[in-house]
Amino acid sequence: MQAWVIGNWKQNPATTKDVNTLLDTLLTTADDTVSNGCQLMVAPSCIHLANVSARLQNTAILTAAQDISALSDSSGAYTGDCSAQQIADAGATWTILGHSERRQYYQESHESLLEKLSHAFTQGLGVVYCIGETQTQYDNQQTFSALDDQLAVIKDLLIKSKEQAPELVQRLAERLIIAYEPVWAIGTGKVPTVMEVEATHQHIKETVASFDTTLPATTVLYGGSVNKDNADSFAASPMIDGALVGGASLKAESFLAIAHAF
Ligand code: G3P
Repeated sequence: MQAWVIGNWKQNPATTKDVNTLLDTLLTTADDTVSNGCQLMVAPSCIHLANVSARLQNTAILTAAQDISALSDSSGAYTGDCSAQQIADAGATWTILGHSERRQYYQESHESLLEKLSHAFTQGLGVVYCIGETQTQYDNQQTFSALDDQLAVIKDLLIKSKEQAPELVQRLAERLIIAYEPVWAIGTGKVPTVMEVEATHQHIKETVASFDTTLPATTVLYGGSVNKDNADSFAASPMIDGALVGGASLKAESFLAIAHAF
């Protein structure tokens, strides 16, 4: 299965100058990484999306948004939102959705995520759908039930699409990536064991397959304190199809070292 290493830049870098410096380094050192079969993608802040997409246009590095509007897939009186169509028009081909920071700080709901997934696929975007348990859920052995609740959005989208828009089922099959990011591992330096990640990825793959047995095997990435020192251990597992990287993606050298591992 294709390996993916995706850099979620979050609200970084703070200036266009620093974005371009990061891109300069990425562009001058990425060639051999991409040739090793690892698909690279970066997700800048929305304000930087057009610049980043334009600068990466003739490379194999893909560009993603970090979120899209739930209210419309195109245009409307929705102050502060960016639609799937606007994101695609800016040159992005993917979007992250359901990141734990959006769930935490913006009370992302099942309903809003269902709308966002539908909008993304309607506008031809691929989706990196983030799921993950909290520390409390992990401590109480509730990881799988927490992930099942978050995966239910995919099941509902399949049901809705089969009834109303069958073409979305095909797009979901071709362009859905799941990113498993235990909330307690994001930005903390703490990581689960590889065995824990493998068992969780197995559960995720089996759960999504149970929604529709005709779907191809789901690509599942791990995210949460991935760095150049632990990437090899995750990359060695056939159950881990890549990484969604936060902090370590803001330095081109560490981001590419992670990609080399996969
Ligand atoms: O989306 C990836 C991010 O949440 C992981 O962050 O800094 O722990 O790699 P970090």
